[in-house]
Amino acid sequence: MIDLNGMHVLVTGGSRGIGAAASRLFARAGATVLVHYRDHEEQATALVEELFAISARDHRRFPCDFMEPSEIEELFQYVSSEWGRLDCLVNNAGIWLHNPMSQFDEDRYIATMRVNVRGPFLCLRHALPLLRLSKQASVVNVSSTSGQRGEPFYSPYSASKGAIISATKAWAAELGPEIRVNCVAPGWVDTDMSSAALRDDPAVREEIESAIPLRRVARAEDVAGPIVFLASPLARHITGEILNVNGGSVLCG
Ligand SMILES: NC(=O)c1ccc[n+]([C@@H]2O[C@H](COP(=O)([O-])OP(=O)(O)OC[C@H]3O[C@@H](n4cnc5c(N)ncnc54)[C@H](OP(=O)(O)O)[C@@H]3O)[C@@H](O)[C@H]2O)c1
Repeated sequence: MIDLNGMHVLVTGGSRGIGAAASRLFARAGATVLVHYRDHEEQATALVEELFAISARDHRRFPCDFMEPSEIEELFQYVSSEWGRLDCLVNNAGIWLHNPMSQFDEDRYIATMRVNVRGPFLCLRHALPLLRLSKQASVVNVSSTSGQRGEPFYSPYSASKGAIISATKAWAAELGPEIRVNCVAPGWVDTDMSSAALRDDPAVREEIESAIPLRRVARAEDVAGPIVFLASPLARHITGEILNVNGGSVLCG
């Protein structure tokens, strides 16, 4: 039903977790995928092999560290030289750093802002000319419930994800009608990012799940579906939307 044949999609932070699940689903829907990664080259390489097995398209991988703006520029030079256009940018790469205000760590704050906020801004800046060459251009940002309701001891992360929600709305208003811009806001998702919190102590996990109306933490695949939907023609009249993917834990868009 979702047919993304002919679409070229860049998934940032595609090597693991939500980004890897979204990359697989994009490939299953017929898209050609560029898997961006920073450190996990082996996982990115294995994932691209998997994507080839799913569909014989021109899937690629490319490394870059969002701490370095020049590397982000190189990522998009690569997209430009290899594909010549981009149909969908998924701004998914992110970090979640503990940072209680009583021991505020400015380096962690700056890293969070560079990766989670400046990263998507620079990606979109460089992607714009390539997206403008597409007839079905869209951006899907990945925020968090943390950016909606705040998260104690992770306030820089909350602020970064709140910024992405506001930026989604601003970009949607600014870039329409050519480019749709939407956002998913996941709650707890079982990935490497959250593994220490979710897997170490079953009692903690139980407490987290008891506060979720659907009574479970999401799997990465639960978030991949909404990302691919927002990028697809089925969402062609949706822009500026914040789609909750949180089992009901935060009931606002
Ligand atoms: N997991 C959750 O509970 C949860 C909840 C709400 C929102 N989210 C959001 O969902 C997105 C994906 O999260 P996830 O759980 O899938 O995380 P994950 O498994 O930790 O994966 C993070 C991805 O981001 C990349 N990355 C990390 N630092 C980077 C940097 N400096 N420059 C470029 N790329 C970098 C990683 O690349 P390498 O592995 O190659 O280094 C990896 O591909 C994030 O934006 C996160 O904030 C997650």
